[in-house]
Amino acid sequence: MKHKILFICLGNICRSPMAEFVMKDIVSKAGLTHEFEIASAATSTYEIGNPVYPPARQKLAEQGIACDGKTARQMTKKDYEYYDYIVAMDSSNISNLKKMFNNDPDNKFSLLMDYTTRPADVADPWYTRDFRATWNDVTEGCDALLKFIVETHQLPL
Ligand code: 4NP
Repeated sequence: MKHKILFICLGNICRSPMAEFVMKDIVSKAGLTHEFEIASAATSTYEIGNPVYPPARQKLAEQGIACDGKTARQMTKKDYEYYDYIVAMDSSNISNLKKMFNNDPDNKFSLLMDYTTRPADVADPWYTRDFRATWNDVTEGCDALLKFIVETHQLPL
């Protein structure tokens, strides 16, 4: 059975798509693509249908990671049932998610940086324009999340 991860942020054009495509990349480099299903979605409707925001796309491209075809979508109740790990970028995402999905009865919500040794919100580039800080948080968080899942499920590395 695949490990299904859904990354969440407010708009699904900056932080959560970066996490989606970074995670796909590190999972692929670990030879574990067949073990995972990875996607991202928004809490809001603000950016539905829009592609990954150009500076976020650029940050991924600098590392050889493509995100072609990804467009923003809002998380649904089906997603709540389907995904195992619903991983948010910041604490306001978590409070929005809890309101939207009945206070998380299946205990699926977590914060990306809580898998690291420095729990925090992922740096939000929407106001700061600092996409490098977001990149650093996202890569550190995704590395730690993969390690957690590998250890929890004793996946072969
Ligand atoms: P994201 O960034 O949640 O990382 O995709 C944002 C995108 C859009 C808005 C805010 C943050 N917005 O207010 O429209």
